[in-house]
Amino acid sequence: MRAIVQSRYGSVDDLRVGEVPCPEPAEDEVLIKVRAASVHPDVWHVVTGRPAILRLMGAGVKRPKNRVPGTDLAGVVASIGRTVLRFRPGDEVFAETIRGVQWRNGGAFAEYAVAPEDGVCLKPRGVSFQEAAAVPTSGLIALSNLPRRRVRPGSRVLVNGAAGGVGAFAVQLAKAYGAEVTGVDHTRKLGLVESLGADRTIDYTREDFTRGGERWDLIYDVPGNYSFRQVRRALAPHGSYVLIGHDAFGAGGHTLLGSLPRMVGLMARATTTPALRDGLVVSPDKPRLMSMLAQFMEDGQLRVVVDRSFPLSHTPEALRYLASGQAVGRVVIIV
Ligand SMILES: NC(=O)c1ccc[n+]([C@@H]2O[C@H](COP(=O)([O-])OP(=O)(O)OC[C@H]3O[C@@H](n4cnc5c(N)ncnc54)[C@H](OP(=O)(O)O)[C@@H]3O)[C@@H](O)[C@H]2O)c1
Repeated sequence: MRAIVQSRYGSVDDLRVGEVPCPEPAEDEVLIKVRAASVHPDVWHVVTGRPAILRLMGAGVKRPKNRVPGTDLAGVVASIGRTVLRFRPGDEVFAETIRGVQWRNGGAFAEYAVAPEDGVCLKPRGVSFQEAAAVPTSGLIALSNLPRRRVRPGSRVLVNGAAGGVGAFAVQLAKAYGAEVTGVDHTRKLGLVESLGADRTIDYTREDFTRGGERWDLIYDVPGNYSFRQVRRALAPHGSYVLIGHDAFGAGGHTLLGSLPRMVGLMARATTTPALRDGLVVSPDKPRLMSMLAQFMEDGQLRVVVDRSFPLSHTPEALRYLASGQAVGRVVIIV
């Protein structure tokens, strides 16, 4: 089958279209004929091999163990493993191909890919393959890190990085749960944030939300450009802080360990700081989270804005475009 092949860590421009054997589903896996896939920051990280720690976290020490990048896709079930119960050939699905929280190539940028049954979900009616392909990883991150006790009718939620892959879903999910949402992002992207339902927007190039005197019940921080000490100024007395973390495609300069030291620091501090505790509770129940995302889409509460689509052979261009930060919406690959 045709696939994007990565033979070493380095530049996205080293990726080539090649012929590789079609994967065979293990007993708990589903083989999917891929119609669309999507790019996100972790795909870029595994292609470039940065931060280096990811090579020890399953991606492959010297070179990528799995040579086909991509983790998120939508397509049609081609065959199923022996123990798979929830799907059958012909089902239209969307899926995350990696298990748990892993940092490795997942084989999505190909004509066929396998995904564990737990990471597969029926594609909702009225949602295109391109839209559905953009949902799994960022949707799972957004949903599993949104503390429900802080996101209720009337609560005040600030999403920093609100136009990005994770932020755009966090804004919409918080709105769906009835919160009053403020979205912070770049000037060019505020129209998108408003169109997703944010009640207010803040332009980070002009305003520092930690210094405006306002307070939020939840600060959901994707870029992590302020220290917790700074963010605390803008937290309501019993408010919570959740950090997703973003290395800005290497610009953060954390080439060895990425955001891990900061995450570990916050986790250690959570023992004495209640505001940090919600950031530690992440639901591992992937089938339930995928079904919830599908339901939100079906109900029209979760919308995917696709900025640009690229054919499979233009995957390097798609990744370059993603890393340029220019996209206003998601970047999708059509297979
Ligand atoms: N999306 C996924 O599927 C996925 C998967 C795995 C892991 N993650 C992790 O989750 C994190 C976020 O991913 P993402 O897809 O949401 O990234 P993204 O699409 O690049 O979004 C980040 C957003 O934050 C904005 N931003 C940058 N600096 C900011 C600042 N100072 N203040 C406010 N906003 C700022 C960016 O705008 P500009 O840069 O244009 O200014 C961009 O809109 C990354 O660490 C990534 O590794 C994401």
